[in-house]
Amino acid sequence: MNIDFANLQLQYQKYKDEIDTNIHSILDNSNYVMGKEVSRLERSLEEFTLAKHAISCSSGTDALLLSLMAIDIRPGDEVITTPFTFIATSEAIAFMKAKPIFADIENDSFNLDPNKIESLITSKTKAIIPVSLYGQPADMTAIKAIADKYNLKVIVDGAQSFGSTHNGNSDSCLGDISTTSFFPSKPLGCYGDGGAVFTNNDNYADKIRMLRVHGQTKRYSHKLIGMSGRLDTIQASVLLVKLAHFADEITNRNKIAQTYNEKLNKFVQVPQIKPNRTSVWAQFTLRVQNRDFVQAKLQEQGIPTTVHYPLPLHLQDCFSYLNGKKGDFPIAEKISREVLSLPMNPFLTNDEIDYICEQLIRVLKDQ
Ligand SMILES: Cc1ncc(COP(=O)(O)O)c(C=O)c1O
Repeated sequence: MNIDFANLQLQYQKYKDEIDTNIHSILDNSNYVMGKEVSRLERSLEEFTLAKHAISCSSGTDALLLSLMAIDIRPGDEVITTPFTFIATSEAIAFMKAKPIFADIENDSFNLDPNKIESLITSKTKAIIPVSLYGQPADMTAIKAIADKYNLKVIVDGAQSFGSTHNGNSDSCLGDISTTSFFPSKPLGCYGDGGAVFTNNDNYADKIRMLRVHGQTKRYSHKLIGMSGRLDTIQASVLLVKLAHFADEITNRNKIAQTYNEKLNKFVQVPQIKPNRTSVWAQFTLRVQNRDFVQAKLQEQGIPTTVHYPLPLHLQDCFSYLNGKKGDFPIAEKISREVLSLPMNPFLTNDEIDYICEQLIRVLKDQ
């Protein structure tokens, strides 16, 4: 069997008529930038998340930058975040000339550990950015309590977790500002780059809408230094189709995760979802010893796997100026050596899941 990791092609074939119709209508009217589909998508995102404002933008990375600009992050400010995430989270902080301050992660959820935050707070700390890794929110009750105590802002990097919940609330409503990415392989993905910012705060929303179009209040009047950060109309039209199917896709992802769990939990460490949270399973990530061996053997059997992420951010060359060293964040370092993500998409069949699990169990016994 040859398994497709994210199977975007199959998803396209399922929704092809709707997607082609939407794309062609934009080609027919040439409204490529800020067409009506963009505002329709934003209203649909607000309905889906119950956030007061959903503001689409050019990528998950730009969503983070717009959020940091909105809360007025300045050079030299400190922002506490996780070292175990995609580079974009800390890259956005560094791009603002602020300083990423890493705190280690929880051993079970792989998310920012609230118990490691408080000792890092200084007079320069302005914000905390938890990431909802692999689709599951961090411990937002504890993180928000710390933020409130020290008057810090919270930006939730929800690039991997659009549609997940924490105490019944959408991941997109958990921070002062929350973000997501519509990168093609994300749970809700478009056909290029895209992202969104969510907030219940009217002032932030006004500012972000301005910032995403060069800080402009009306054509050629610029109140702020902003960016070219809009979502293309064609991408919005693709997302409108996919959003209509998204609740069903989340249900399928959860069923698949449950089946993986039942078949694998006796043999390997499976993902842990906390009782007050749901995941959208951007990844189904195991912890394995001897990862290279397991990965190579699965590949030989037509089963692709991925490693998110092999090196924590404090050990990346681009952050060497922060003087991070091995041993600073032992849990992030250990987990980065062990994580392995199995194929995950809403269209995996029972036969495919059976095959993946049988092969994996065989490889684990062989090592
Ligand atoms: C946690 C996290 N933050 C931010 C991003 C950046 O999103 P984008 O690729 O849309 O810029 C990603 C994308 O992989 C991500 O996983």
